[in-house]
Amino acid sequence: MTTPTPSAPAAGEEVLEAIGLTKHFPVRRRLRGLFSRTRTAVHAVDDVQLTLRRGRVTALVGESGSGKSTVARLLAQLYPRTAGTIALHGEPVTVRGGRPFRAYARRVQLIFQDPFASLNPVHTVRYHLTRALRVHGNAGRTDADLDAALRRLLERVRLTPAERYLGSFPHELSGGQRQRVAIARALGADPEVLLADEPVSMLDVSIRLGVLNLLRELKEQFDLAILYITHDIASARYFADETLVMYAGRLVEGGDSETVTQRPAHPYTRLLIGSAPDPDRITGDGGADVAERGDGEPPSLIRPPAGCRFHPRCPVAMPRCAEELPPRLEVGDHDGHWTACWLYHPDVTKAGAAAATVGGGAGR
Ligand SMILES: Nc1ncnc2c1ncn2[C@@H]1O[C@H](COP(=O)(O)OP(=O)(O)O)[C@@H](O)[C@H]1O
Ligand SMILES: [Mg+2]
Repeated sequence: MTTPTPSAPAAGEEVLEAIGLTKHFPVRRRLRGLFSRTRTAVHAVDDVQLTLRRGRVTALVGESGSGKSTVARLLAQLYPRTAGTIALHGEPVTVRGGRPFRAYARRVQLIFQDPFASLNPVHTVRYHLTRALRVHGNAGRTDADLDAALRRLLERVRLTPAERYLGSFPHELSGGQRQRVAIARALGADPEVLLADEPVSMLDVSIRLGVLNLLRELKEQFDLAILYITHDIASARYFADETLVMYAGRLVEGGDSETVTQRPAHPYTRLLIGSAPDPDRITGDGGADVAERGDGEPPSLIRPPAGCRFHPRCPVAMPRCAEELPPRLEVGDHDGHWTACWLYHPDVTKAGAAAATVGGGAGR
């Protein structure tokens, strides 16, 4: 159809897959609620479908509160899910705690946004990394094995010479160094999948690129499958092979990053991109002012809007959008580019003209 862009996905082996992934958090009922029969819940994640592949970065982009961290925690098996399947190399897996959880964590590691919170302030770098190596059986047999493994981990995240860092406490390191230690700790498990939940958004703008470049090198070196969670769609273009856009608990668009960021199809993706002033700057706060620029705010997830969850904010909503949930539809401009938007349904006459109007309305 169209010529492939340089970043067009070369299909890597599927490692981790989510099918119909759903998480509703029950809301504690007030006394009054005890007498009503309706159960309330936060619909944090609904029917999410995604595939992480070896040697590829998949970005999950959306505003704060859209359910991104919940997806990461579900994939890490930290929460039970309400519905859906998680498959590792095609095998459905559900683990809760104990030995099965450790076995799973050996293959799927989570990196958090705030390295200061994820490292224990009373312990040194040596302690954190030793523990990770031991828990996952990668510490070797002798002290010399352990020492070599520690050194290797720090070298992998470019904290050298290792001796300078092993005895440091988290507060003695910079934010970027702390996140590198957190990454080294994750690598201590020798995982296949890294789930990176906003790994650079707490860091100074000037060092974000360095950490993303490190993750990219590690991906290439170890053929890792990476889920890169961000609210900055500009950084997704820079860093990710594939980009998925999430709004109010649902995925609304996906495809290779170049296509999704350069030719966004869903009105929400257009809004996100319109609010990221310079697509080449890794600012990390590109999406922060969407609510101010866009028409209104993200909806309540306790009673999410019927039909398309974006319809109350959508500049081109049609009556159908308030009633029926749009299915995934091919956009048609690039292989694998899809969106859940009725504008792209063959029924919608003059779809092309309507889409053009969206561009004019949602752009800046
Ligand atoms: N443990 C929880 N209990 C109840 N609600 C939660 C819990 N964790 C997250 N939520 C709610 O789920 C929604 C999605 O949250 P989250 O996944 O953290 O979004 P994001 O990472 O995109 O900011 C939010 O409305 C949040 O308040
Ligand atoms: Mg989050």
